[in-house]
Amino acid sequence: MKKYCVIGCPIKHSLSPKIFNRAFRRMKISAQYKAIEVEPRNLAKFMRDFRENYAGANVTIPHKEKIIKFLDKLSPSAKAIGAVNVIVNRRGKLVGHNTDIFGAMTALKQEIRCQKLEVRNCKNFLRGKCAIVLGAGGAARSIVYGLKKAGARVTVLNRTLSHAKKLARDFKLSGVGHRGFGILKDFNPAQSNILINVTSVGMWHKKVKSLTLPMTPLPQLKKILRGLKNKPIVMDIIYRPLLTKFLRDAKHAGCRVITGDKMFLAQAAKSFELWTGRKMP
Ligand code: ATR
Repeated sequence: MKKYCVIGCPIKHSLSPKIFNRAFRRMKISAQYKAIEVEPRNLAKFMRDFRENYAGANVTIPHKEKIIKFLDKLSPSAKAIGAVNVIVNRRGKLVGHNTDIFGAMTALKQEIRCQKLEVRNCKNFLRGKCAIVLGAGGAARSIVYGLKKAGARVTVLNRTLSHAKKLARDFKLSGVGHRGFGILKDFNPAQSNILINVTSVGMWHKKVKSLTLPMTPLPQLKKILRGLKNKPIVMDIIYRPLLTKFLRDAKHAGCRVITGDKMFLAQAAKSFELWTGRKMP
């Protein structure tokens, strides 16, 4: 039986074991998928035995960039993005792929009612649009890459300015009316058409119950968006909870919202294809 997993920290929220195990059963593929919490300090140790034990994996927060040094090869898009969310073990060679970009662009296109669902065809479907991305981690790199490829002008805002600056430099962002990056407090959605949360803030976590973690990266969002005439489409890549506080605030302010399950399912379906060569049911 082939073994697959998703590694991340935290990982308890993940729905990946449910959907992949069900897909394997449905397709009569002898394989098993589980979620494994790997703390950053244990990543090297975990990857030491990976090659012998696993046929593939998904990689999630906070390992999408750090995982690269443990892989033998990258797909062209994973290389351009600098982040990996899928590993395929091809006869002992570990190949890193990025299906987040496909997932995110599919979710956006579904909302924008663009029917061309292949990433290579998505060129310029956001030409003339302005996007604000919150977050500057591995997932943000995929989303920024996808948005730029689709023709959007992108600004990255992040808690840590230096991370936003690096991302803006790597992808040559110019933004609208500013330098293409800033901190979260610089948030100003005027003229923006798309707003995406790619921070981990708002994700289900047992600690949220004791209110030790913030619930949204932009506490003022509802108030700010209410005052806007032309409201952006607002998307969150978090899928648990499905309606994050970030999306609830945007919805209450009258915005169209895209929940994280759209991207999650599309990136998962592509992962399944990479591992099995078959379409996910
Ligand atoms: P992923 O690979 O999923 O993108 P990551 O690389 O760990 O995960 O990135 C997480 C993102 O969430 C980062 O942009 C991080 O901001 P920093 O660069 O300042 O670390 C952001 N983030 C995490 N916790 C946050 C918090 N409490 N407030 C604001 N941003 C937060």
